[in-house]
Amino acid sequence: MCRKMTFGIYPGPFLVFCLLLHGSEEICPSMCLCTSDMVSCSSSALTKLPQSLPSSSVSLDLSYNHLSWLGPGSFNGMPRLENLRMAHNQLSALGHAVFQNASSLRHIDLSSNRLRVVEQHYFQGLWRLEELLLFNNKITHVEGGTLNGLSSLKKAYFSLNQITEFPFFSIQDHSHPFLTMLDLSSNRMTTLPWEDVKALPGLVQKGLFLHNNSLICECSMYSVFWHWQMRDYDSLKDFMDEHTCTIYGEPRASIRFLRHNRFFQNCTVGKAVSLPVTVFLSTVVVSEGEKVRLDCQTSLSGADLSFTWLSPSKGYITQTGINDTLIRLFPNGTLEISAAKVNDSGLYVCTAVDIKQMLNATREVNVTVVLPLAESFNTGYTTLLGCVVTMVLILIYLYLTPCRCSCCKQPRPQVIPIAAYDPSSFSSIFSPSTGPRDPLKISNKHVAFIEPVIDEQNGCLKADMDQPALQWEWENSGQIKTPYSGISSET
Ligand SMILES: *[C@@H]1O[C@H](CO)[C@@H](O)[C@H](O)[C@H]1NC(C)=O
Ligand SMILES: *[C@@H]1O[C@H](CO)[C@@H](O)[C@H](O)[C@H]1NC(C)=O
Ligand SMILES: *[C@@H]1O[C@H](CO)[C@@H](O)[C@H](O)[C@H]1NC(C)=O
Ligand SMILES: *[C@@H]1O[C@H](CO)[C@@H](O)[C@H](O)[C@H]1NC(C)=O
Ligand SMILES: *[C@@H]1O[C@H](CO)[C@@H](O)[C@H](O)[C@H]1NC(C)=O
Ligand SMILES: *[C@@H]1O[C@H](CO)[C@@H](O)[C@H](O)[C@H]1NC(C)=O
Ligand SMILES: *[C@@H]1O[C@H](CO)[C@@H](O)[C@H](O)[C@H]1NC(C)=O
Ligand SMILES: *[C@@H]1O[C@H](CO)[C@@H](O)[C@H](O)[C@H]1NC(C)=O
Repeated sequence: MCRKMTFGIYPGPFLVFCLLLHGSEEICPSMCLCTSDMVSCSSSALTKLPQSLPSSSVSLDLSYNHLSWLGPGSFNGMPRLENLRMAHNQLSALGHAVFQNASSLRHIDLSSNRLRVVEQHYFQGLWRLEELLLFNNKITHVEGGTLNGLSSLKKAYFSLNQITEFPFFSIQDHSHPFLTMLDLSSNRMTTLPWEDVKALPGLVQKGLFLHNNSLICECSMYSVFWHWQMRDYDSLKDFMDEHTCTIYGEPRASIRFLRHNRFFQNCTVGKAVSLPVTVFLSTVVVSEGEKVRLDCQTSLSGADLSFTWLSPSKGYITQTGINDTLIRLFPNGTLEISAAKVNDSGLYVCTAVDIKQMLNATREVNVTVVLPLAESFNTGYTTLLGCVVTMVLILIYLYLTPCRCSCCKQPRPQVIPIAAYDPSSFSSIFSPSTGPRDPLKISNKHVAFIEPVIDEQNGCLKADMDQPALQWEWENSGQIKTPYSGISSET
């Protein structure tokens, strides 16, 4: 009796009454096919939702119908619904609270409909939603809060629409921890808020598809893609030829910018995306009382750098907060300890911060201060020790190989040891390696070049550093100027 009444006609209170009466009894609409937990009503010429759908369904297929409207609570009676397929319908908008009480939904396919605007309320409360298919609609606009609260989202497909802007800012570090696919390809974006794009979590950047848009060729655009290309992202590799941009927005002057980058030769691409902090490690050994200078030369350069040192004995040292005659911090980042003490030994970490570009890089110097031999033996033991040492030396002299004498030279003159590296040696990713030196891996993040070298000319002890690993070489590579964009600047 109830079955009959629920078909086609508006059921109103009758349906509620029947549902209450029948409790869990499952009703399969005549035009659908129902299995244990799946309902398929596809290609059934439906113009509206069947009135009663089995409440135990996990999957509901409504694709290839003529649905043009969904009312509030359309899936109210299906608390277990996880997969909802509504591709190839005629939906141009979704009403309020369509997915109310359907918070089990994990996959929603609304592709190939006629949606124009993705409104903020559409998917509200669907915190379990993992996959959202909205491709091939007529979407021009995605409202700012659309993705808010969709904290389980893994993949979102917006391609083949007419989107001109997208709320990248709504995707932040911890808002969508599982999002690894954001497909915005084949839309109409001419420019993107590149700062927001660069601020996207790494996983989202890696899974961001932007090919076949209407991008305008500009340095800020190119530098972002350049970095993605450096990181070998599939989103670029798989669509090399579909990444096009137009020169001055002129549609006929379109270039495949991943293949032909001559137009961007004057762009500064080096420092636009912040990467894991770069660490160079070096070692310095000095005698107590000596003057030590520790350079803070990192991958960053320029006038806008500020420097902070973390020292094992004195904590943080900044340019302004320093009030110590024994320690000085020069504007170029060099830290000078006028008379090193044994207690000054340890790891010194310098952080250079580029305020303008919001980048920072660190450099570590391992300082070891040793007691000078002469001063450490001035107590009563000296004579006795001296005798023993002399005896040993005599014995060595008599019975072992003669001294080859490089060690018997006069003591080194007082020098200022400097931990430094030659910045020109890794100025560009394109510059050839200067020599086959072995970088020593300390950990997977640190690359160290511990290689003390006596500088012939001024007798300095140098911790010489050569090519850093490829993944951060690009940070230094942008010394070129450009007429096109604001990101370029002489550094
Ligand atoms: C649906 O959700 C509303 C509030 O979100 C709640 O008041 C109502 O009881 C729910 N209805 C069902 C059938 O679960
Ligand atoms: C590029 O996008 C247009 C619509 O913007 C679409 O018609 C075309 O098929 C897309 N091309 C590719 C190769 O995806
Ligand atoms: C790059 O700069 C050089 C020298 O300033 C200039 O001759 C050249 O035309 C520029 N290239 C482009 C593509 O604008
Ligand atoms: C530095 O310390 C001395 C005393 O130790 C004090 O008189 C002086 O005001 C301090 N200067 C600053 C800039 O804090
Ligand atoms: C930094 O400045 C100090 C003092 O002016 C100078 O001695 C030192 O060599 C400079 N360091 C570098 C790396 O230029
Ligand atoms: C140096 O270190 C020793 C032990 O680590 C400590 O007893 C001594 O007080 C320190 N001296 C100074 C000046 O910090
Ligand atoms: C360096 O950058 C990281 C991330 O970009 C930031 O968390 C950190 O606070 C920065 N450090 C300094 C000293 O600015
Ligand atoms: C610094 O050097 C000393 C001696 O060369 C070594 O014992 C110590 O482990 C080093 N520290 C770090 C952090 O590399």
